[in-house]
Amino acid sequence: MPHIKIESFDESLLPFEAEGVMFEWFARNLEHAEEGLIGVESEGVPFLLNLKPKGGGLLLKGEKITRPSPSTLLKKALRAYVDELRPKVLFDNLSSIERAKLLKPPSSLKDISEFDPSSLPDKPIWVEIGFGSGRHLVYQAKENPDVHLVGLEIHRPSLEQVMRRIELDEIENLWVIDYDARLFMELLPSNRVERIFVHFPVPWDKKPHRRVISDSFLQESLRVLKKGGTLELRTDSENYFRYAMEVFTRPKEVKLTLSKNLEAAVRSKYEDRWRRMDKNIYQIDVESLEESKPRLLEYDFSFKKALPLNELFEKRPEKAWIERDYFVHVERLYAINERDGLVRVSFGSFDRPEHKFILLKHGKAAYYPRPPVKTATNYRAHEKLRGWIECAT
Ligand SMILES: C[S@@+](CC[C@H](N)C(=O)[O-])C[C@H]1O[C@@H](n2cnc3c(N)ncnc32)[C@H](O)[C@@H]1O
Repeated sequence: MPHIKIESFDESLLPFEAEGVMFEWFARNLEHAEEGLIGVESEGVPFLLNLKPKGGGLLLKGEKITRPSPSTLLKKALRAYVDELRPKVLFDNLSSIERAKLLKPPSSLKDISEFDPSSLPDKPIWVEIGFGSGRHLVYQAKENPDVHLVGLEIHRPSLEQVMRRIELDEIENLWVIDYDARLFMELLPSNRVERIFVHFPVPWDKKPHRRVISDSFLQESLRVLKKGGTLELRTDSENYFRYAMEVFTRPKEVKLTLSKNLEAAVRSKYEDRWRRMDKNIYQIDVESLEESKPRLLEYDFSFKKALPLNELFEKRPEKAWIERDYFVHVERLYAINERDGLVRVSFGSFDRPEHKFILLKHGKAAYYPRPPVKTATNYRAHEKLRGWIECAT
């Protein structure tokens, strides 16, 4: 990750603009005054830079939650900061990062917080979860031009590799999304998807709550699949296969097809590795047997108004709010001035929490840089947050 280590930082120099990058404000951590966040906007994309003391200097780097896409925006911002303010730089890794031409995010990359299921092309939809190197995903997109594929992946380098492939091969029927696939399913309309592929998911033997396959994932998959559509799991792990069988046979009525060492249309990178090791490959196909009810997602994630930061600080919850199926944790508060600032929160479901900032400015509050994903759990957490953030009057 690009970063610079500077000797000192003067917040009174903000706001300023340099090389098309706007450095808007500095928000100081209310509990660790030597740390803070700089609000930046570049090419219309807002994000934060994190400033922290380190080894006798101050480390300035991209803040994780708001990491911009493409990541070249971050390098551009750090370079602009150095070129404009000429701080004493103790260390930087910018010169080792090639002065990349700023690319627009490829159109194949869909931002989850702006994902609108009604924008899905009017074609059969196939979804691949955890596509890794993307060998299977790209193969299916090329082989099936009349199908639209959506790939979900949380490992950024894999996503970027596949995005490059999509651009190079000019593939138009494939979108990739940088998001936890388990949450994504909730956003899809019912009866819309023909095939779901889950190939060689991480078995997570020691942390089973992180597995992709679960009761709720199955339920959501069956809802989004058309009648007759299939969820295809391939795994080399006998343990995962047995676990998945338990999950898949829990519904009252199911149709499962089991296969062992069945050759796939194309071998994924992982499959290649397991085959070389002579491992067994298990496949389970789950078929959706009925039409599901439509799902309406009309959640409003706005705040009506907001208490000033100093009052919120006084009334901040000491502990996380833990409810039966969600939680809200107010992690940190940052002050831009007495009234304005940022709140860092995590909330939502326990195994798939959202990490967000809320920007308080001029008596208003808004998720920064964008609202949470429109899931039912996130909405319940938002309602809880409203109770704290909004003025009672
Ligand atoms: C073992 S690799 C398999 C990759 C690919 N399917 C293959 O067969 O070569 C599992 C992939 O799933 C991704 N992954 C794990 N959990 C995920 C989740 N909840 N949502 C999306 N991707 C996930 C990981 O980042 C990883 O790339």
